[in-house]
Amino acid sequence: TLKKEQYRPLFHFSPKKGWMNDPNGMVYLNGTYHLFFQHNPDSAVWGPMHWGHATTKDLIHWEEQPIALYPDSLGTIFSGSAVVDKDNTAGFGANALVAIFTHHNAEIEQKKTGKHQYQSLAYSTDEGKTWTKYAGNPVLPNPGIWDFRDPKVRWHEETKRWIMTLATKQTITFYSSPNLKQWSKLSEFGEGIGAHGGVWECPDLFPLIVDGERKWVLLVSINPGGPNGGSATQYFVGNFDGKTFKPDKKETRWIDYGADDYAGVTWSNTGNRIIFLGWMSNWQYANVVPTTAWRSANTIPRELTLKRVGDEVFLSSAPVKELNDLKTKMEEMTNVTVASEKDFSDLLKNTSMTYSLDLTTANLDDFTVQLANDLGEQVLVGYDKQQNQFYVDRSQSGKTDFESGFAKRIVAPRVAKDTSIELTLVVDVNSVELFADKGLTVLTDIFFPNRVFDKLRLKSPEKIEFKRVNLSPFKSN
Ligand code: FRU
Repeated sequence: TLKKEQYRPLFHFSPKKGWMNDPNGMVYLNGTYHLFFQHNPDSAVWGPMHWGHATTKDLIHWEEQPIALYPDSLGTIFSGSAVVDKDNTAGFGANALVAIFTHHNAEIEQKKTGKHQYQSLAYSTDEGKTWTKYAGNPVLPNPGIWDFRDPKVRWHEETKRWIMTLATKQTITFYSSPNLKQWSKLSEFGEGIGAHGGVWECPDLFPLIVDGERKWVLLVSINPGGPNGGSATQYFVGNFDGKTFKPDKKETRWIDYGADDYAGVTWSNTGNRIIFLGWMSNWQYANVVPTTAWRSANTIPRELTLKRVGDEVFLSSAPVKELNDLKTKMEEMTNVTVASEKDFSDLLKNTSMTYSLDLTTANLDDFTVQLANDLGEQVLVGYDKQQNQFYVDRSQSGKTDFESGFAKRIVAPRVAKDTSIELTLVVDVNSVELFADKGLTVLTDIFFPNRVFDKLRLKSPEKIEFKRVNLSPFKSN
């Protein structure tokens, strides 16, 4: 019924029923983007993990598919990745899809040997419709490391072998293999660098070009220990020579400062285009958010690039360009002056109430975007000049009492040095994704108002000029 679907996003993927966490096995093949995901089909809380499956042609319209991987005698199916084995290195067939995932064995866990997580394979020769587990599983047994999981595999052209990036407690361990079946340890990264407030999970390693130079980016999710509490994803920029990852800088950076972007990784087999998607929730409250039939959605897919600011290199995220096709007519306003408040709510009438709002300020001034309803509930998104921070304040956003840390102001430092701010907000029913300064600072946060936010206002303590205000509601199909 409608009531049950109150918080169902329009264009972010969410499972029809049951529980979802991490995105898994993201791989592109013959015009289709595959998304697998940590899934408990029988209940809307975390439980025995399966790989659910969804597909999309445009990264926006999703079709849920039958479950791809079920638990078996080796364990339940934790996170992992998938590759297209073009050259049949594994012998499952040329262009077979091969999933490399963690088996989690609860019985072995009881024995406290720390050997309960190990890496296994499954393959599909019909473009992901049906899957066969490899008879020789596991392919990477556990040497006795309690947290030993989430393999992300990619082909390394220079050394002509597969590289596995694996989360090993509070480090990342790299392995290599000629055939996806035999793995040898290469090196370990993470001692004395990065955030260590929790366990390291769901890593990813991929190259990106900046100013003609190739860099390697290492994503590492951490839970807890995120900058705004609970789960978050840090990243390192550096070099990878096929064996060792060497970061350029020591400081910790976050791909998204919001509370609700976790375990995100990138699609395999998309060439130079690097597309990222995260789980839009946080372990701090994911199991108790006020939806009943299902829990969790993913972020909008984002294209990642490296950008130089001064002599430093940062990762930046932008909604994939395919999202533009979902936009209806744009309200393009130029040279907008806001003296305390300007109300745009009328422009949302008869729309899906989901939209993209693009702003460019004339100067560096405080401003707030208010999403609200007539119950007095609101989410405030804005820029604080004195702190030089962006924020999302969901302290009065409706249902918040399901977890004590949910109702709060979530902040992110500004990275860009420009004297005007460019900001894109993507709003979809119960989430806002803020991309500031072309994605140099990102905040993703969810909320649960008792009635849809059908009010949209721009506010500022002093008179402020916007060079541009574009409001584009999204189509509802
Ligand atoms: C991250 C994570 C992974 C694990 C999976 C289990 O959110 O804890 O490390 O594989 O979830 O569902």
